[in-house]
Amino acid sequence: MDNLIEIAKKKAGIAAVDEFVKDGMVLGIGSGSTVVYAVNRIVERVKQEGLKVVCIPTSFQSTQLIVNGGLILGDLSRYPKIDVDIDGADEVDENLNLIKGGGGCLLQEKIIASNSEKLVIVADYRKNSKILGEQWKKGIPIEVIPLAYIPLMKKMKKTGGSPILRLAEKKAGPLITDNGNFILDVDFGEITDPKVLNQKIKLLPGVVETGLFIGMTEKVYFGQKDGSLISRKR
Ligand code: 5RP
Repeated sequence: MDNLIEIAKKKAGIAAVDEFVKDGMVLGIGSGSTVVYAVNRIVERVKQEGLKVVCIPTSFQSTQLIVNGGLILGDLSRYPKIDVDIDGADEVDENLNLIKGGGGCLLQEKIIASNSEKLVIVADYRKNSKILGEQWKKGIPIEVIPLAYIPLMKKMKKTGGSPILRLAEKKAGPLITDNGNFILDVDFGEITDPKVLNQKIKLLPGVVETGLFIGMTEKVYFGQKDGSLISRKR
């Protein structure tokens, strides 16, 4: 892995935590490789400053990050209102709409984001686009109920997409999400109206959730190649 990318991710993770995380907060903890740097910074600040924060995970991976970091693990039943959710993204457009789900965790990520006062995104320079689909060429991740996947693939084609069933690694067959579902990665090319596309896809029976996060983001941090940082706010 390119070291410049890791430095950029770290820069974004630290900046987001330092600007948004305050004592007594309930935090959403996203998934992916960039979020790891944010969690490391939270752990550091808990130790150094004695911060008390409760962390709500968005996946199996983030549950492990919280537990291994010695942080307090919560859930939506106890903490239905989250102050700040820090998460990664696969692509961010000029209006701060997102493609998420490259790591397969989009359903819980969207539930946590939609119950958060603020969604703060941490990313590296490769994720910064004008239009969704400009740089992220793997398609929009869509979590679907397994029995519906073949008819849904046909319907995605009719909607103008090219769907692929995401396969597992080191196991023959489909990837199974944390919620027991499949993921279709559907390439729609460059997406000029992500809100309308999201609504269309969500109406198809068997679709559980899409990786299009529309109008949810408060702020995005992009770590840069040269070690600097840029941010964009809603
Ligand atoms: C997982 C996600 C991730 O946040 C997204 O894929 C970005 O991951 P990374 O920080 O590793 O680039 O949506 O479902």
